[in-house]
Amino acid sequence: MSEKLNLPIRPRRNRKTRGIRGLVRETILHPSDLIYPLFIHDAPQNDPITSMPGCHRWSLEGLLTEVGEAWEAGVRAIVFFPKIEDDLKTPLAEECFNPEGLVPRAIRAVRAVYPDITIITDVALDPYNSDGHDGLVEKTAAGDLKIINDETVAVLCRQALCHAAAGADIVSPSDMMDGRVGEIRAALDEAGYEEVSILSYTAKYASAYYGPFRGALDSAPKAGDKKTYQMDPANRREALREAELDIAEGADMIMVKPAGPYLDVIRTLRDAFDIPIAAYQVSGEYLMIKSAAKDGWIDEEKVALESLIGIKRAGADMILTYFAKDVARRLGR
Ligand code: PBG
Repeated sequence: MSEKLNLPIRPRRNRKTRGIRGLVRETILHPSDLIYPLFIHDAPQNDPITSMPGCHRWSLEGLLTEVGEAWEAGVRAIVFFPKIEDDLKTPLAEECFNPEGLVPRAIRAVRAVYPDITIITDVALDPYNSDGHDGLVEKTAAGDLKIINDETVAVLCRQALCHAAAGADIVSPSDMMDGRVGEIRAALDEAGYEEVSILSYTAKYASAYYGPFRGALDSAPKAGDKKTYQMDPANRREALREAELDIAEGADMIMVKPAGPYLDVIRTLRDAFDIPIAAYQVSGEYLMIKSAAKDGWIDEEKVALESLIGIKRAGADMILTYFAKDVARRLGR
């Protein structure tokens, strides 16, 4: 029993004390790694989102308060997702480039109070499109829906220009159309916005984990699914191909989405490219942690932090997460 093993190598020595564990820690999450997605709507009140406990659709005033709290906690980057009124949704999604639309107004309102915060906008048509698809929809002779690529890209360029004109630092195409990064880059440059960055949703999968988000924005496709433009969850090599194209077209940063179930994809891109990589911990990942914690099955704070450490360890430089404000607070304590 009391016999000593002859063990010159004992990895546990490096875990002996809190201090030593701190010295050997390989991955450290900082509040400045986090990007806080915020839902906004054109209404005077803040509505709690049933499908995403803890999240709200903010009024412009509520948005400023929430951004203030996040900034106080150390969050330095935000991204907006608008819920557009039904009567503004059209087949051609024209509201997405209205200079007086909800997103440009939100950008200007936040910029006026927080000049140094990084404002990111989502470039895609689904909140604006009466069809609920990220691109424009055409009906084929057989009655099937077709998401038309090149015509969509032209509208995305106008949307990106509208966000840039309002003061966005980074535009982030989440639509997965082919060639949109290059076209958006050219449109921005031509209009004198060469300093506006592009964070491309490079490997965005056709994921069931987006369910709660679509409930929050009422943006689910009216018919069909997104499998002809978002990637097949079964594919990893295809992400390399998408990344090569986006980088060649001028993306400044690339993204993998969802994050937790796709850590291998994050690692694959990290090993293959030097470009900064973002990962999006999406609504379904958030909700699974939230709902398990609500019943006391798991510790929300600890699991949320561990999930984000895992994503960073896989190779993400920055993480979009609905936990951003809470986790930043915790990191600051
Ligand atoms: C749409 C968009 C989606 C998300 C971000 N942008 C949904 C979708 O593609 O259907 C999902 C985010 C989340 O689930 O948290 N362009």
